[in-house]
Amino acid sequence: AECAAIRVALLGWYRLYRRELPWRDIQDPYLIWVSEIMLQQTQVATVVAYYQRWAQRFPTVEALATASLDEVLEQWAGLGYYRRARFLHESSKTVLEEMGGRLPRSAGQLRKLKGVGPYTAGAIASIAFGQPEPLVDGNVERVLARLRAVRGDAKSGAFQKLWWRLAARVLDPEEPGDFNQALMELGATVCTPQNPNCEDCPVRGVCHASRTESPTDFPSPAKR
Ligand code: ADE
Repeated sequence: AECAAIRVALLGWYRLYRRELPWRDIQDPYLIWVSEIMLQQTQVATVVAYYQRWAQRFPTVEALATASLDEVLEQWAGLGYYRRARFLHESSKTVLEEMGGRLPRSAGQLRKLKGVGPYTAGAIASIAFGQPEPLVDGNVERVLARLRAVRGDAKSGAFQKLWWRLAARVLDPEEPGDFNQALMELGATVCTPQNPNCEDCPVRGVCHASRTESPTDFPSPAKR
């Protein structure tokens, strides 16, 4: 019952308040893949211009796979973590040469691509293909830890299993792509690491941390 309430409230909020970004409301699995890889270690504000330029220069898997590594790295220049660009390029060739030019639909098959881990596989499967796959990133960890008032080091292995289990349980199987993006968007804009804006939170009514003196105590600060 609590999961159903979370789904309705979060999806309603997302439709009203989400930021309009160039990778929203597209279905192209390749472009969703590109955007999710760029977003992994780079801020949204920086990614927007890079994503748009990339989509112009490499609009399809084939365009990327047939480009030279030099040009791929040139387009990536400034985003950092260049391994991401090398893996994208290498994996685009795998898709073109071994997968008939189309990204696989299942998270398990997606993970066979270099650079595609559990997060990216869940993002592509749910957002591009509407598969009921959960995903967990730093924002999702924090939102789930606060909903359930879980203390502890969110990054530790034991907790990772818990986040994936909770993310799978709360996921809306009818609209997994929007639901997953709504969870991340809530963490990015409302349920922020410092000074969360609980007054404007659509799931405040079911959030255990918001009933405590100090919602930012969840999850516990990472050990240094
Ligand atoms: N962070 C990374 N990918 C995202 C997405 N698709 N929506 C919201 N936040 C994100």
